[in-house]
Amino acid sequence: MLNIVIFGAPGSGKGTQSKLIAEKYQLVHLSTGDMLRAEIAKGTEIGKKVDALISNGNYAPDNLIVSMIEQEIDAHKKNCNGFIFDGFPRTVAQAKALDELLEKHGKKLTVMIDLHVEEKLLIDRLLKRGLTSGRADDNLEVIKKRLEVHKQKSLPVLDFYKKSGRYASVQNSSTIEQNFEQIVHLIEFSICGF
Ligand code: AP5
Ligand code: MG
Repeated sequence: MLNIVIFGAPGSGKGTQSKLIAEKYQLVHLSTGDMLRAEIAKGTEIGKKVDALISNGNYAPDNLIVSMIEQEIDAHKKNCNGFIFDGFPRTVAQAKALDELLEKHGKKLTVMIDLHVEEKLLIDRLLKRGLTSGRADDNLEVIKKRLEVHKQKSLPVLDFYKKSGRYASVQNSSTIEQNFEQIVHLIEFSICGF
């Protein structure tokens, strides 16, 4: 079983690369951002709770996110080769909770991959996507807030994985295909050591 975390700032390519990795390795792709947007679109209680937070570039509460992930793991655990976690964990509390959830099922995280992209390129990508995405958070003001929140709340997650020897990083600024090739190398290295 392969369990991979794809970590990175807004616009770093988490969703794009997670989709390709999920296809190649037949993994279940869990994007907490997609899950939250689906709740908002359906107008559920969760959606109402997080709508304003997301639209303003703030994070949803840890306990809500962890319980959503727990439900998805339970729903898919019997028939899957593993999971790719996209945009989760984003806080140290979430990272600890993920370890506990996997441990409960006798599983471990294979690797956490940090997608590194310069800030200017992140902003350019998100502004471009904002022209067609319909996402309430793809405008300059909220993009800047998302980048700030990422620095404050999510960068400590990197240390958590570095300390436990599960950290890997790639420069994710080339073409999608070239980036994917590098990520596949990292995954193969994590699986078999060469
Ligand atoms: P989420 O949906 O995860 O948004 P994000 O982290 O801001 O990242 P994005 O989805 O915008 O970008 P991405 O890294 O997936 O890049 P993509 O592949 O799309 O979260 C949204 C919100 O939900 C958060 O702000 C928070 O409020 C809440 N939330 C989510 N998870 C949470 C959690 N765990 N805890 C608390 N709150 C949570 O690429 C971006 C663009 O660039 C695309 O147009 C793509 O086509 C393009 N692109 C990608 N790669 C390349 C490339 N190599 N070359 C050229 N273009 C590229
Ligand atoms: Mg995404």
